Amino acid sequence: MTCHLGMALPDAGTGLFRRHPATPCRLDARQIGCTACHRGEPLGLTALGAHALGSPRELLDWRGGSRATALQPACAQCHLGRAHGVLRYDAELVPDVAAGLELFLEQGCPSCHRVAGIFAAGDHGPPLGGIGRLRRRAQLAATLADPQRQSPTSPMPPLTLPPRRAEQLVLFLSAQIGAAREPGSSPAAALLSGRRGALVDHFDSDLPTATEPNAAVGALWARRVGCTGCHRLGEDASGVPDLTRVGWIATYDELGLALRDPARRFTGTLMPRLELPEPVIGSVLLYLAQQKSPLPDQPCDVQREVCARCHGADGRSLVAQAPGTPARDRRAVVLARRPPELRGVPLQTLLEVAGRGRKGTAMAPWGRVLTESFLRQVHGCIVR
Ligand code: HEC
Ligand code: HEC
Ligand code: HEC
Ligand code: HEC
Ligand code: HEC
Repeated sequence: MTCHLGMALPDAGTGLFRRHPATPCRLDARQIGCTACHRGEPLGLTALGAHALGSPRELLDWRGGSRATALQPACAQCHLGRAHGVLRYDAELVPDVAAGLELFLEQGCPSCHRVAGIFAAGDHGPPLGGIGRLRRRAQLAATLADPQRQSPTSPMPPLTLPPRRAEQLVLFLSAQIGAAREPGSSPAAALLSGRRGALVDHFDSDLPTATEPNAAVGALWARRVGCTGCHRLGEDASGVPDLTRVGWIATYDELGLALRDPARRFTGTLMPRLELPEPVIGSVLLYLAQQKSPLPDQPCDVQREVCARCHGADGRSLVAQAPGTPARDRRAVVLARRPPELRGVPLQTLLEVAGRGRKGTAMAPWGRVLTESFLRQVHGCIVR
Protein backbone atom coordinates (compact mmCIF):
# COMPACT_ATOMS: atom_id res chain seq x y z
CA MET A 1 0.00 0.00 0.00
CA THR A 2 3.03 2.28 -0.30
CA CYS A 3 1.55 3.40 -3.61
CA HIS A 4 -2.13 2.47 -3.38
CA LEU A 5 -2.68 4.70 -0.40
CA GLY A 6 -6.45 4.58 -0.68
CA MET A 7 -6.62 0.88 0.05
CA ALA A 8 -6.25 1.68 3.74
CA LEU A 9 -8.63 4.64 3.85
CA PRO A 10 -12.25 4.36 4.91
CA ASP A 11 -13.63 6.49 2.07
CA ALA A 12 -13.44 5.82 -1.62
CA GLY A 13 -11.41 8.19 -3.78
CA THR A 14 -10.04 7.96 -7.29
CA GLY A 15 -6.77 6.74 -8.78
CA LEU A 16 -4.36 5.69 -6.06
CA PHE A 17 -6.96 6.73 -3.51
CA ARG A 18 -9.42 4.14 -4.68
CA ARG A 19 -10.56 1.51 -2.26
CA HIS A 20 -10.10 -2.08 -3.25
CA PRO A 21 -13.23 -3.65 -4.72
CA ALA A 22 -14.74 -6.47 -2.72
CA THR A 23 -12.97 -9.78 -3.45
CA PRO A 24 -14.43 -13.22 -2.93
CA CYS A 25 -11.59 -14.10 -0.57
CA ARG A 26 -12.25 -14.12 3.14
CA LEU A 27 -8.88 -12.52 3.77
CA ASP A 28 -8.74 -8.75 3.67
CA ALA A 29 -6.83 -7.55 0.63
CA ARG A 30 -5.19 -4.93 2.80
CA GLN A 31 -3.84 -7.52 5.18
CA ILE A 32 -2.41 -10.25 3.01
CA GLY A 33 -0.55 -7.91 0.69
CA CYS A 34 -1.29 -7.08 -2.87
CA THR A 35 1.19 -9.42 -4.53
CA ALA A 36 -0.46 -12.46 -2.98
CA CYS A 37 -3.17 -12.12 -5.63
CA HIS A 38 -1.72 -9.81 -8.24
CA ARG A 39 1.83 -11.15 -8.17
CA GLY A 40 4.58 -8.64 -8.75
CA GLU A 41 7.25 -7.58 -6.28
CA PRO A 42 6.06 -6.65 -2.77
CA LEU A 43 8.88 -4.21 -2.18
CA GLY A 44 8.97 -2.65 -5.63
CA LEU A 45 8.99 1.13 -5.50
CA THR A 46 8.24 1.86 -9.14
CA ALA A 47 5.08 0.89 -10.97
CA LEU A 48 6.97 -1.54 -13.16
CA GLY A 49 8.92 -3.02 -10.29
CA ALA A 50 5.87 -3.47 -8.11
CA HIS A 51 3.72 -4.96 -10.82
CA ALA A 52 5.93 -6.97 -13.07
CA LEU A 53 9.31 -7.86 -11.70
CA GLY A 54 10.07 -11.53 -12.23
CA SER A 55 6.47 -12.48 -12.73
CA PRO A 56 4.07 -12.67 -15.62
CA ARG A 57 2.64 -9.22 -16.06
CA GLU A 58 -0.63 -10.34 -17.51
CA LEU A 59 -2.02 -11.16 -14.09
CA LEU A 60 -2.35 -7.40 -13.76
CA ASP A 61 -3.67 -6.91 -17.22
CA TRP A 62 -7.36 -7.51 -17.24
CA ARG A 63 -7.97 -7.15 -20.90
CA GLY A 64 -7.94 -10.79 -21.98
CA GLY A 65 -11.03 -12.21 -20.32
CA SER A 66 -12.72 -11.55 -17.01
CA ARG A 67 -10.77 -10.31 -14.00
CA ALA A 68 -11.82 -13.24 -11.89
CA THR A 69 -10.45 -15.68 -14.49
CA ALA A 70 -7.25 -13.71 -14.92
CA LEU A 71 -6.55 -13.91 -11.19
CA GLN A 72 -7.33 -17.59 -10.79
CA PRO A 73 -3.73 -18.78 -11.05
CA ALA A 74 -2.88 -16.47 -8.15
CA CYS A 75 -5.89 -17.59 -6.08
CA ALA A 76 -4.86 -21.19 -6.85
CA GLN A 77 -1.47 -20.84 -5.22
CA CYS A 78 -3.22 -20.52 -1.83
CA HIS A 79 -6.39 -22.49 -2.48
CA LEU A 80 -4.76 -25.82 -3.17
CA GLY A 81 -3.91 -29.00 -1.36
CA ARG A 82 -0.83 -31.17 -1.43
CA ALA A 83 -1.87 -33.83 1.06
CA HIS A 84 0.21 -37.01 0.59
CA GLY A 85 2.07 -35.26 -2.18
CA VAL A 86 -0.89 -35.16 -4.56
CA LEU A 87 -1.74 -31.78 -6.05
CA ARG A 88 -5.41 -30.75 -5.85
CA TYR A 89 -7.30 -27.52 -6.39
CA ASP A 90 -10.54 -26.24 -4.95
CA ALA A 91 -12.94 -26.72 -7.86
CA GLU A 92 -15.37 -24.17 -6.51
CA LEU A 93 -12.95 -21.31 -5.95
CA VAL A 94 -10.62 -21.89 -8.89
CA PRO A 95 -12.73 -23.90 -11.34
CA ASP A 96 -10.65 -23.22 -14.45
CA VAL A 97 -7.35 -24.13 -12.83
CA ALA A 98 -8.92 -27.31 -11.41
CA ALA A 99 -10.27 -28.18 -14.86
CA GLY A 100 -6.82 -27.42 -16.29
CA LEU A 101 -5.25 -30.02 -14.00
CA GLU A 102 -7.73 -32.62 -15.27
CA LEU A 103 -6.82 -31.67 -18.83
CA PHE A 104 -3.12 -31.93 -18.04
CA LEU A 105 -3.73 -35.59 -17.16
CA GLU A 106 -6.21 -36.27 -19.97
CA GLN A 107 -3.94 -34.85 -22.62
CA GLY A 108 -1.06 -37.12 -21.68
CA CYS A 109 1.23 -34.24 -20.64
CA PRO A 110 2.72 -36.21 -17.69
CA SER A 111 4.04 -38.72 -20.23
CA CYS A 112 6.77 -36.22 -20.95
CA HIS A 113 6.65 -33.50 -18.28
CA ARG A 114 7.18 -33.52 -14.54
CA VAL A 115 5.10 -31.30 -12.24
CA ALA A 116 5.46 -31.70 -8.47
CA GLY A 117 2.47 -33.54 -7.03
CA ILE A 118 1.41 -35.10 -10.32
CA PHE A 119 2.33 -38.61 -11.36
CA ALA A 120 5.01 -38.41 -14.04
CA ALA A 121 5.48 -41.26 -16.49
CA GLY A 122 8.31 -39.74 -18.49
CA ASP A 123 10.98 -37.06 -18.71
CA HIS A 124 11.19 -36.42 -22.43
CA GLY A 125 10.21 -32.78 -21.96
CA PRO A 126 11.37 -30.16 -19.43
CA PRO A 127 9.80 -30.13 -15.94
CA LEU A 128 6.94 -27.62 -15.79
CA GLY A 129 6.71 -27.08 -12.01
CA GLY A 130 7.93 -23.47 -12.24
CA ILE A 131 6.66 -22.60 -15.70
CA GLY A 132 4.17 -20.03 -14.37
CA ARG A 133 7.05 -17.78 -13.37
CA LEU A 134 8.91 -18.15 -16.63
CA ARG A 135 6.32 -17.79 -19.36
CA ARG A 136 3.41 -15.54 -20.06
CA ARG A 137 0.02 -16.93 -20.82
CA ALA A 138 0.22 -15.94 -24.47
CA GLN A 139 3.57 -17.73 -24.81
CA LEU A 140 2.18 -20.85 -23.20
CA ALA A 141 -0.86 -20.81 -25.46
CA ALA A 142 1.38 -20.45 -28.53
CA THR A 143 3.60 -23.38 -27.47
CA LEU A 144 0.63 -25.67 -26.90
CA ALA A 145 -1.05 -24.81 -30.19
CA ASP A 146 2.09 -25.24 -32.26
CA PRO A 147 5.01 -26.82 -30.39
CA GLN A 148 7.10 -27.23 -33.54
CA ARG A 149 7.09 -23.56 -34.40
CA GLN A 150 9.51 -22.75 -31.60
CA SER A 151 11.25 -26.12 -31.53
CA PRO A 152 11.05 -27.80 -34.94
CA THR A 153 12.32 -31.10 -33.55
CA SER A 154 9.98 -31.25 -30.55
CA PRO A 155 8.04 -34.51 -30.31
CA MET A 156 5.20 -32.76 -28.48
CA PRO A 157 1.81 -33.28 -30.16
CA PRO A 158 -0.06 -30.04 -30.87
CA LEU A 159 -3.16 -29.49 -28.76
CA THR A 160 -6.47 -29.84 -30.55
CA LEU A 161 -8.79 -28.67 -27.77
CA PRO A 162 -11.43 -25.97 -28.28
CA PRO A 163 -10.16 -22.50 -27.21
CA ARG A 164 -12.01 -22.39 -23.89
CA ARG A 165 -10.52 -25.74 -22.79
CA ALA A 166 -7.06 -24.75 -24.01
CA GLU A 167 -7.32 -21.61 -21.90
CA GLN A 168 -8.01 -23.70 -18.80
CA LEU A 169 -4.87 -25.69 -19.44
CA VAL A 170 -2.90 -22.46 -19.79
CA LEU A 171 -4.35 -21.10 -16.52
CA PHE A 172 -3.26 -24.30 -14.81
CA LEU A 173 0.30 -23.95 -16.18
CA SER A 174 0.31 -20.32 -15.16
CA ALA A 175 -0.47 -21.36 -11.56
CA GLN A 176 2.68 -23.51 -11.41
CA ILE A 177 5.16 -21.32 -9.53
CA GLY A 178 6.88 -24.14 -7.64
CA ALA A 179 5.58 -25.76 -4.45
CA ALA A 180 8.17 -24.00 -2.30
CA ARG A 181 6.86 -20.58 -3.37
CA GLU A 182 3.17 -21.26 -2.89
CA PRO A 183 1.75 -19.49 0.18
CA GLY A 184 -0.78 -22.33 0.42
CA SER A 185 1.78 -25.15 0.58
CA SER A 186 3.35 -25.76 3.97
CA PRO A 187 7.08 -26.57 3.82
CA ALA A 188 6.23 -30.16 4.75
CA ALA A 189 3.67 -30.44 1.97
CA ALA A 190 6.11 -28.86 -0.48
CA LEU A 191 8.66 -31.53 0.45
CA LEU A 192 6.08 -34.27 0.03
CA SER A 193 5.23 -32.99 -3.41
CA GLY A 194 8.62 -34.28 -4.55
CA ARG A 195 7.23 -37.77 -4.11
CA ARG A 196 6.71 -39.57 -7.39
CA GLY A 197 3.25 -40.78 -6.43
CA ALA A 198 1.07 -43.11 -8.44
CA LEU A 199 -1.27 -42.34 -11.28
CA VAL A 200 -4.26 -43.73 -9.41
CA ASP A 201 -3.78 -41.22 -6.59
CA HIS A 202 -5.36 -38.64 -8.88
CA PHE A 203 -8.56 -40.55 -9.29
CA ASP A 204 -9.41 -41.80 -5.84
CA SER A 205 -13.15 -41.79 -5.71
CA ASP A 206 -14.77 -41.09 -9.04
CA LEU A 207 -13.29 -43.70 -11.38
CA PRO A 208 -14.74 -47.22 -11.14
CA THR A 209 -12.55 -50.30 -11.30
CA ALA A 210 -14.40 -53.44 -12.35
CA THR A 211 -13.50 -56.88 -11.08
CA GLU A 212 -14.37 -58.42 -14.46
CA PRO A 213 -12.96 -56.71 -17.57
CA ASN A 214 -15.48 -54.13 -18.69
CA ALA A 215 -15.10 -52.12 -21.89
CA ALA A 216 -17.03 -49.10 -20.60
CA VAL A 217 -14.73 -48.87 -17.59
CA GLY A 218 -11.75 -49.21 -19.94
CA ALA A 219 -13.03 -46.35 -22.09
CA LEU A 220 -13.37 -44.11 -19.07
CA TRP A 221 -9.83 -44.79 -17.87
CA ALA A 222 -8.30 -44.46 -21.32
CA ARG A 223 -9.70 -40.95 -21.55
CA ARG A 224 -8.84 -39.81 -18.05
CA VAL A 225 -5.27 -41.06 -17.92
CA GLY A 226 -4.14 -39.43 -21.13
CA CYS A 227 -4.31 -42.02 -23.93
CA THR A 228 -6.40 -39.62 -26.00
CA GLY A 229 -3.76 -36.90 -25.73
CA CYS A 230 -1.56 -38.81 -28.17
CA HIS A 231 -4.01 -41.24 -29.80
CA ARG A 232 -7.26 -41.13 -31.58
CA LEU A 233 -9.94 -42.87 -29.57
CA GLY A 234 -13.61 -42.09 -29.46
CA GLU A 235 -15.30 -39.34 -31.39
CA ASP A 236 -13.63 -36.10 -30.45
CA ALA A 237 -10.02 -37.15 -30.01
CA SER A 238 -7.46 -37.03 -32.77
CA GLY A 239 -3.98 -38.40 -32.81
CA VAL A 240 -1.47 -40.92 -34.00
CA PRO A 241 -1.54 -43.88 -34.03
CA ASP A 242 -5.28 -43.81 -34.57
CA LEU A 243 -6.64 -46.49 -32.27
CA THR A 244 -10.19 -46.54 -33.60
CA ARG A 245 -9.28 -49.55 -35.79
CA VAL A 246 -6.63 -51.14 -33.62
CA GLY A 247 -8.88 -54.15 -32.98
CA TRP A 248 -8.35 -55.20 -36.62
CA ILE A 249 -4.58 -55.04 -36.67
CA ALA A 250 -3.33 -56.00 -33.22
CA THR A 251 -3.86 -59.20 -31.25
CA TYR A 252 -4.84 -59.22 -27.61
CA ASP A 253 -1.27 -60.14 -26.64
CA GLU A 254 0.21 -57.35 -28.73
CA LEU A 255 -2.16 -54.84 -27.17
CA GLY A 256 -1.25 -56.14 -23.73
CA LEU A 257 2.45 -55.70 -24.39
CA ALA A 258 1.89 -52.18 -25.77
CA LEU A 259 0.13 -51.25 -22.55
CA ARG A 260 2.29 -53.02 -20.00
CA ASP A 261 5.70 -52.43 -21.54
CA PRO A 262 5.52 -50.09 -24.55
CA ALA A 263 9.29 -49.89 -24.93
CA ARG A 264 9.50 -53.63 -25.51
CA ARG A 265 6.85 -53.48 -28.20
CA PHE A 266 8.14 -50.30 -29.92
CA THR A 267 11.83 -49.46 -29.98
CA GLY A 268 12.51 -46.00 -28.58
CA THR A 269 8.84 -45.13 -28.13
CA LEU A 270 7.63 -42.09 -26.19
CA MET A 271 4.51 -43.95 -25.16
CA PRO A 272 4.61 -44.05 -21.37
CA ARG A 273 4.26 -47.00 -19.09
CA LEU A 274 1.34 -45.84 -17.03
CA GLU A 275 1.28 -48.51 -14.33
CA LEU A 276 -2.47 -48.88 -14.35
CA PRO A 277 -3.96 -51.24 -11.76
CA GLU A 278 -4.16 -54.77 -13.20
CA PRO A 279 -8.01 -55.00 -13.25
CA VAL A 280 -8.08 -51.70 -15.12
CA ILE A 281 -5.57 -52.99 -17.70
CA GLY A 282 -7.97 -55.84 -18.43
CA SER A 283 -10.78 -53.38 -19.04
CA VAL A 284 -8.68 -51.08 -21.23
CA LEU A 285 -7.55 -54.10 -23.28
CA LEU A 286 -11.11 -55.23 -23.81
CA TYR A 287 -12.02 -51.72 -24.90
CA LEU A 288 -9.08 -51.58 -27.32
CA ALA A 289 -9.84 -55.01 -28.77
CA GLN A 290 -13.34 -53.75 -29.57
CA GLN A 291 -12.02 -50.81 -31.59
CA LYS A 292 -13.03 -52.03 -35.02
CA SER A 293 -14.36 -49.02 -36.88
CA PRO A 294 -15.22 -50.11 -40.41
CA LEU A 295 -12.64 -49.41 -43.09
CA PRO A 296 -13.72 -47.53 -46.22
CA ASP A 297 -14.61 -49.72 -49.23
CA GLN A 298 -12.50 -47.77 -51.69
CA PRO A 299 -8.70 -48.22 -51.72
CA CYS A 300 -8.07 -44.51 -52.24
CA ASP A 301 -10.25 -43.72 -49.23
CA VAL A 302 -8.20 -46.14 -47.14
CA GLN A 303 -5.03 -44.42 -48.35
CA ARG A 304 -6.49 -41.05 -47.34
CA GLU A 305 -8.09 -41.98 -44.03
CA VAL A 306 -5.62 -44.54 -42.74
CA CYS A 307 -2.19 -44.35 -44.40
CA ALA A 308 -2.14 -40.56 -44.86
CA ARG A 309 -2.56 -39.96 -41.12
CA CYS A 310 1.03 -41.03 -40.75
CA HIS A 311 2.49 -40.86 -44.23
CA GLY A 312 0.93 -37.60 -45.36
CA ALA A 313 -1.52 -36.84 -48.10
CA ASP A 314 -0.27 -37.49 -51.64
CA GLY A 315 2.41 -39.63 -50.06
CA ARG A 316 4.34 -36.53 -49.01
CA SER A 317 5.92 -36.89 -45.62
CA LEU A 318 4.11 -35.04 -42.82
CA VAL A 319 7.21 -34.91 -40.83
CA ALA A 320 8.87 -32.54 -43.22
CA GLN A 321 6.43 -30.20 -41.44
CA ALA A 322 5.55 -28.09 -44.41
CA PRO A 323 4.14 -24.81 -43.08
CA GLY A 324 0.39 -25.02 -43.04
CA THR A 325 0.23 -28.73 -42.24
CA PRO A 326 -2.91 -28.97 -40.08
CA ALA A 327 -2.19 -29.65 -36.41
CA ARG A 328 -4.29 -32.79 -36.70
CA ASP A 329 -1.88 -34.31 -39.18
CA ARG A 330 1.21 -33.03 -37.46
CA ARG A 331 0.58 -35.27 -34.47
CA ALA A 332 2.66 -37.94 -36.24
CA VAL A 333 5.74 -36.27 -34.70
CA VAL A 334 5.15 -38.27 -31.54
CA LEU A 335 6.05 -41.53 -33.33
CA ALA A 336 9.42 -43.05 -32.48
CA ARG A 337 10.17 -43.65 -36.17
CA ARG A 338 9.20 -41.10 -38.76
CA PRO A 339 6.93 -42.53 -41.45
CA PRO A 340 8.73 -42.14 -44.79
CA GLU A 341 7.33 -40.57 -47.92
CA LEU A 342 5.35 -43.13 -49.89
CA ARG A 343 5.60 -41.49 -53.29
CA GLY A 344 7.60 -43.74 -55.58
CA VAL A 345 7.63 -46.70 -53.17
CA PRO A 346 7.94 -49.97 -55.16
CA LEU A 347 4.81 -52.12 -55.23
CA GLN A 348 6.67 -55.07 -53.77
CA THR A 349 7.83 -53.05 -50.75
CA LEU A 350 4.33 -51.80 -50.12
CA LEU A 351 2.79 -55.25 -50.31
CA GLU A 352 5.37 -56.63 -47.92
CA VAL A 353 5.52 -53.80 -45.39
CA ALA A 354 1.84 -52.88 -45.36
CA GLY A 355 0.94 -56.55 -45.39
CA ARG A 356 3.09 -57.74 -42.53
CA GLY A 357 3.98 -54.50 -40.80
CA ARG A 358 7.42 -53.52 -39.51
CA LYS A 359 8.08 -55.12 -36.19
CA GLY A 360 8.98 -52.71 -33.40
CA THR A 361 7.48 -49.69 -35.19
CA ALA A 362 4.06 -48.08 -35.52
CA MET A 363 3.75 -49.57 -39.03
CA ALA A 364 1.02 -52.15 -38.39
CA PRO A 365 0.28 -55.40 -40.31
CA TRP A 366 -2.64 -54.11 -42.32
CA GLY A 367 -2.60 -57.39 -44.26
CA ARG A 368 -4.57 -58.81 -41.35
CA VAL A 369 -7.59 -56.94 -42.63
CA LEU A 370 -6.74 -55.76 -46.18
CA THR A 371 -6.19 -58.32 -48.94
CA GLU A 372 -3.15 -58.23 -51.19
CA SER A 373 -5.20 -57.20 -54.23
CA PHE A 374 -6.71 -54.36 -52.20
CA LEU A 375 -3.23 -53.19 -51.17
CA ARG A 376 -2.20 -53.23 -54.85
CA GLN A 377 -4.96 -50.74 -55.51
CA VAL A 378 -3.85 -48.65 -52.51
CA HIS A 379 -0.46 -48.50 -54.18
CA GLY A 380 -2.18 -47.16 -57.30
CA CYS A 381 -3.68 -44.33 -55.29
CA ILE A 382 -0.27 -43.24 -53.99
CA VAL A 383 1.44 -43.17 -57.36
CA ARG A 384 -1.34 -41.12 -58.87
C1 HEC B 1 -2.30 -15.54 0.31
C2 HEC B 1 -3.17 -16.68 0.19
C3 HEC B 1 -4.52 -16.46 -0.48
C4 HEC B 1 -4.77 -15.92 -1.69
C5 HEC B 1 -3.77 -15.41 -2.72
C6 HEC B 1 -6.20 -16.02 -1.89
N1 HEC B 1 -6.78 -16.57 -0.80
FE1 HEC B 1 -8.81 -16.89 -0.55
N2 HEC B 1 -8.46 -17.49 1.35
C7 HEC B 1 -7.22 -17.63 1.93
C8 HEC B 1 -7.38 -18.02 3.31
C9 HEC B 1 -6.25 -18.30 4.29
C10 HEC B 1 -8.77 -18.07 3.54
C11 HEC B 1 -9.47 -18.31 4.83
C12 HEC B 1 -9.80 -19.69 5.07
C13 HEC B 1 -10.58 -19.78 6.36
O1 HEC B 1 -10.57 -18.87 7.12
O2 HEC B 1 -11.20 -20.81 6.52
C14 HEC B 1 -9.42 -17.76 2.28
C15 HEC B 1 -10.80 -17.78 2.09
C16 HEC B 1 -11.40 -17.62 0.85
C17 HEC B 1 -12.81 -17.82 0.59
C18 HEC B 1 -13.84 -18.26 1.58
C19 HEC B 1 -13.83 -19.76 1.58
C20 HEC B 1 -14.62 -20.34 2.68
O3 HEC B 1 -14.74 -21.58 2.65
O4 HEC B 1 -15.09 -19.60 3.55
C21 HEC B 1 -13.00 -17.57 -0.73
C22 HEC B 1 -14.31 -17.66 -1.48
C23 HEC B 1 -11.72 -17.22 -1.30
N3 HEC B 1 -10.77 -17.27 -0.31
C24 HEC B 1 -11.51 -16.89 -2.62
C25 HEC B 1 -10.30 -16.43 -3.14
C26 HEC B 1 -10.12 -15.95 -4.46
C27 HEC B 1 -11.19 -15.90 -5.53
C28 HEC B 1 -8.82 -15.57 -4.58
C29 HEC B 1 -8.14 -14.93 -5.78
C30 HEC B 1 -8.68 -13.64 -6.19
C31 HEC B 1 -8.19 -15.83 -3.30
N4 HEC B 1 -9.11 -16.36 -2.46
C32 HEC B 1 -6.84 -15.62 -3.04
C33 HEC B 1 -5.98 -17.45 1.32
C34 HEC B 1 -5.81 -16.85 0.10
C1 HEC C 1 -7.52 -11.76 -2.25
C2 HEC C 1 -6.92 -11.42 -3.49
C3 HEC C 1 -6.54 -9.96 -3.71
C4 HEC C 1 -5.65 -9.22 -2.99
C5 HEC C 1 -4.85 -9.64 -1.76
C6 HEC C 1 -5.60 -7.92 -3.62
N1 HEC C 1 -6.42 -7.91 -4.70
FE1 HEC C 1 -6.68 -6.36 -5.97
N2 HEC C 1 -8.10 -7.39 -6.95
C7 HEC C 1 -8.51 -8.66 -6.65
C8 HEC C 1 -9.65 -9.00 -7.46
C9 HEC C 1 -10.39 -10.35 -7.45
C10 HEC C 1 -9.90 -7.87 -8.27
C11 HEC C 1 -10.99 -7.73 -9.33
C12 HEC C 1 -12.26 -7.35 -8.59
C13 HEC C 1 -13.41 -7.13 -9.53
O1 HEC C 1 -13.16 -6.85 -10.69
O2 HEC C 1 -14.54 -7.25 -9.05
C14 HEC C 1 -8.91 -6.88 -7.92
C15 HEC C 1 -8.82 -5.61 -8.49
C16 HEC C 1 -7.83 -4.70 -8.22
C17 HEC C 1 -7.66 -3.44 -8.88
C18 HEC C 1 -8.53 -2.88 -9.97
C19 HEC C 1 -9.61 -2.11 -9.27
C20 HEC C 1 -10.47 -1.32 -10.19
O3 HEC C 1 -11.44 -0.74 -9.67
O4 HEC C 1 -10.20 -1.30 -11.40
C21 HEC C 1 -6.59 -2.83 -8.33
C22 HEC C 1 -5.98 -1.47 -8.68
C23 HEC C 1 -6.10 -3.70 -7.30
N3 HEC C 1 -6.88 -4.83 -7.26
C24 HEC C 1 -5.02 -3.40 -6.49
C25 HEC C 1 -4.70 -4.13 -5.37
C26 HEC C 1 -3.79 -3.65 -4.37
C27 HEC C 1 -3.00 -2.36 -4.41
C28 HEC C 1 -3.74 -4.61 -3.43
C29 HEC C 1 -2.97 -4.60 -2.12
C30 HEC C 1 -3.48 -3.64 -1.18
C31 HEC C 1 -4.62 -5.68 -3.84
N4 HEC C 1 -5.20 -5.34 -5.02
C32 HEC C 1 -4.80 -6.88 -3.15
C33 HEC C 1 -7.94 -9.52 -5.72
C34 HEC C 1 -7.03 -9.13 -4.78
C1 HEC D 1 5.87 -36.67 -26.43
C2 HEC D 1 6.36 -35.84 -25.37
C3 HEC D 1 5.58 -34.59 -24.98
C4 HEC D 1 4.24 -34.51 -24.66
C5 HEC D 1 3.19 -35.61 -24.69
C6 HEC D 1 4.02 -33.15 -24.25
N1 HEC D 1 5.19 -32.43 -24.34
FE1 HEC D 1 5.43 -30.47 -23.85
N2 HEC D 1 7.35 -30.54 -24.53
C7 HEC D 1 8.01 -31.68 -24.92
C8 HEC D 1 9.39 -31.34 -25.24
C9 HEC D 1 10.47 -32.31 -25.71
C10 HEC D 1 9.52 -29.94 -25.04
C11 HEC D 1 10.77 -29.10 -25.25
C12 HEC D 1 10.86 -28.68 -26.68
C13 HEC D 1 12.14 -27.94 -26.96
O1 HEC D 1 12.29 -26.85 -26.45
O2 HEC D 1 12.96 -28.49 -27.69
C14 HEC D 1 8.21 -29.48 -24.59
C15 HEC D 1 7.94 -28.15 -24.27
C16 HEC D 1 6.78 -27.74 -23.60
C17 HEC D 1 6.54 -26.40 -23.10
C18 HEC D 1 7.47 -25.21 -23.24
C19 HEC D 1 8.36 -25.12 -22.04
C20 HEC D 1 9.09 -23.80 -22.02
O3 HEC D 1 10.12 -23.74 -21.34
O4 HEC D 1 8.64 -22.84 -22.66
C21 HEC D 1 5.32 -26.41 -22.50
C22 HEC D 1 4.61 -25.24 -21.82
C23 HEC D 1 4.78 -27.75 -22.63
N3 HEC D 1 5.70 -28.52 -23.31
C24 HEC D 1 3.55 -28.15 -22.16
C25 HEC D 1 2.96 -29.38 -22.47
C26 HEC D 1 1.58 -29.70 -22.17
C27 HEC D 1 0.60 -28.79 -21.43
C28 HEC D 1 1.36 -30.95 -22.67
C29 HEC D 1 0.05 -31.73 -22.71
C30 HEC D 1 -0.97 -31.09 -23.51
C31 HEC D 1 2.61 -31.42 -23.26
N4 HEC D 1 3.55 -30.43 -23.12
C32 HEC D 1 2.79 -32.66 -23.85
C33 HEC D 1 7.49 -32.95 -25.00
C34 HEC D 1 6.15 -33.29 -24.78
C1 HEC E 1 2.96 -39.67 -25.20
C2 HEC E 1 2.03 -40.16 -26.19
C3 HEC E 1 1.28 -41.46 -25.90
C4 HEC E 1 0.42 -41.72 -24.85
C5 HEC E 1 0.06 -40.80 -23.69
C6 HEC E 1 -0.08 -43.04 -25.07
N1 HEC E 1 0.46 -43.57 -26.23
FE1 HEC E 1 -0.02 -45.39 -27.06
N2 HEC E 1 1.38 -45.08 -28.52
C7 HEC E 1 2.06 -43.91 -28.71
C8 HEC E 1 2.91 -44.05 -29.88
C9 HEC E 1 3.82 -42.96 -30.43
C10 HEC E 1 2.70 -45.36 -30.38
C11 HEC E 1 3.36 -46.02 -31.61
C12 HEC E 1 4.74 -46.49 -31.33
C13 HEC E 1 5.77 -45.44 -31.66
O1 HEC E 1 5.94 -45.11 -32.85
O2 HEC E 1 6.42 -44.93 -30.74
C14 HEC E 1 1.71 -45.97 -29.51
C15 HEC E 1 1.19 -47.25 -29.68
C16 HEC E 1 0.11 -47.75 -28.99
C17 HEC E 1 -0.56 -49.01 -29.28
C18 HEC E 1 -0.19 -49.99 -30.37
C19 HEC E 1 -1.00 -49.75 -31.59
C20 HEC E 1 -0.75 -50.85 -32.59
O3 HEC E 1 -0.68 -50.54 -33.77
O4 HEC E 1 -0.60 -51.98 -32.18
C21 HEC E 1 -1.58 -49.14 -28.39
C22 HEC E 1 -2.55 -50.29 -28.29
C23 HEC E 1 -1.55 -47.97 -27.54
N3 HEC E 1 -0.51 -47.16 -27.94
C24 HEC E 1 -2.44 -47.73 -26.52
C25 HEC E 1 -2.34 -46.69 -25.61
C26 HEC E 1 -3.18 -46.55 -24.45
C27 HEC E 1 -4.31 -47.49 -24.07
C28 HEC E 1 -2.74 -45.43 -23.79
C29 HEC E 1 -3.24 -44.88 -22.47
C30 HEC E 1 -3.15 -45.81 -21.36
C31 HEC E 1 -1.65 -44.86 -24.57
N4 HEC E 1 -1.44 -45.65 -25.64
C32 HEC E 1 -0.99 -43.67 -24.24
C33 HEC E 1 2.00 -42.76 -27.94
C34 HEC E 1 1.29 -42.62 -26.75
C1 HEC F 1 0.53 -45.22 -37.26
C2 HEC F 1 1.28 -44.67 -38.38
C3 HEC F 1 1.26 -45.41 -39.70
C4 HEC F 1 0.16 -45.77 -40.46
C5 HEC F 1 -1.30 -45.55 -40.14
C6 HEC F 1 0.70 -46.38 -41.67
N1 HEC F 1 2.06 -46.39 -41.61
FE1 HEC F 1 3.29 -47.12 -43.06
N2 HEC F 1 4.92 -46.71 -41.87
C7 HEC F 1 4.88 -46.09 -40.66
C8 HEC F 1 6.21 -45.99 -40.12
C9 HEC F 1 6.60 -45.38 -38.77
C10 HEC F 1 7.07 -46.57 -41.09
C11 HEC F 1 8.57 -46.68 -41.00
C12 HEC F 1 8.95 -47.96 -40.29
C13 HEC F 1 10.45 -48.10 -40.19
O1 HEC F 1 11.09 -47.19 -39.69
O2 HEC F 1 10.95 -49.14 -40.61
C14 HEC F 1 6.21 -46.99 -42.18
C15 HEC F 1 6.68 -47.62 -43.33
C16 HEC F 1 5.91 -47.92 -44.43
C17 HEC F 1 6.39 -48.44 -45.67
C18 HEC F 1 7.83 -48.74 -45.99
C19 HEC F 1 8.40 -47.60 -46.77
C20 HEC F 1 9.87 -47.78 -47.07
O3 HEC F 1 10.30 -47.11 -47.99
O4 HEC F 1 10.53 -48.54 -46.35
C21 HEC F 1 5.32 -48.62 -46.50
C22 HEC F 1 5.33 -49.13 -47.93
C23 HEC F 1 4.15 -48.20 -45.76
N3 HEC F 1 4.54 -47.79 -44.50
C24 HEC F 1 2.87 -48.24 -46.26
C25 HEC F 1 1.73 -47.93 -45.53
C26 HEC F 1 0.39 -48.09 -46.03
C27 HEC F 1 0.02 -48.57 -47.41
C28 HEC F 1 -0.44 -47.71 -45.03
C29 HEC F 1 -1.97 -47.72 -45.03
C30 HEC F 1 -2.59 -49.00 -45.18
C31 HEC F 1 0.39 -47.31 -43.90
N4 HEC F 1 1.69 -47.47 -44.24
C32 HEC F 1 -0.10 -46.86 -42.69
C33 HEC F 1 3.76 -45.63 -40.02
C34 HEC F 1 2.45 -45.82 -40.44
